[in-house]
Amino acid sequence: MVHTHLDIGIQSRMNRIINPKDNRVVMLAVDHPYFQGPTTGLRNMSKTISTLLPFCDCLMTTRGAVRNNIAAEDIGSKPIMLRVSGGNSVLFDELSDEKITVTMKEAIRMDASGVAVSVYIGSVNQQQTILNLTGMINEAESYGIPVLAVTAVGKNMARDLRYLGLASRICQDAGARIIKTYYCEEFSRLVDAVSPTPVVVAGGKYSSPPDALRMAYDSVEAGAVGVDFGRNIFQDANPVGMIKAINAIVHENHTTTEAMDIYNEYLPGAVKLD
Ligand code: 5RP
Repeated sequence: MVHTHLDIGIQSRMNRIINPKDNRVVMLAVDHPYFQGPTTGLRNMSKTISTLLPFCDCLMTTRGAVRNNIAAEDIGSKPIMLRVSGGNSVLFDELSDEKITVTMKEAIRMDASGVAVSVYIGSVNQQQTILNLTGMINEAESYGIPVLAVTAVGKNMARDLRYLGLASRICQDAGARIIKTYYCEEFSRLVDAVSPTPVVVAGGKYSSPPDALRMAYDSVEAGAVGVDFGRNIFQDANPVGMIKAINAIVHENHTTTEAMDIYNEYLPGAVKLD
């Protein structure tokens, strides 16, 4: 495809985030403290990042973590997907009350390869969060920065095809360059409905290595470009084995059983993260 000068910046950053050789990505999500404060596996965030950074393609994180928790020698070694929406906390049941928290100037100063905004479709703050997304897209596109939309799910909402498909399609229509959503049954229908916009899958609460690896496998089988897992990696008893096993699925088309073998290779003496 020939690109006009207008989209070279976007394409360049997209290529940093999603490997253009196989159109796949292992993104590591470590943005949880922005609304839940101290988080198991991220209490020593510098250690978590230095341990796992070599094995991810892109780090999804916050301004504070980029500033405080990435070692000086690691800055610039992996593209940053910078979370730029927030303003909520776990102390309120209604998590959807988010606004934009980081300016575009800050994102550029931090050399972000992309910026991430959550939307809460069906919540009382639906319009506010969609306008957070569209406002950020209007600005980010003019600087050649892709926006990733997160289809955040309120506590009582079903994570099914109907809901996630609706939320993802709204994000695509808003102009998101990447959609992050949850896995659901008939996931390929969601991927098809937003094609050609790439989809990455969030891991959700910690489950177990076979379940998390199965979800990664099913996601890419259904057409996702990869995963953006957090807790299922950094809260596992064998985080390095876990992220290596995910890489084998996402980039090398390994089966879940083969990936479990890789996980088990790294189990003896595995370093757990606090
Ligand atoms: C929350 C997010 C988080 O980054 C993401 O959901 C965390 O990943 P995981 O669910 O795998 O721990 O975007 O809205």
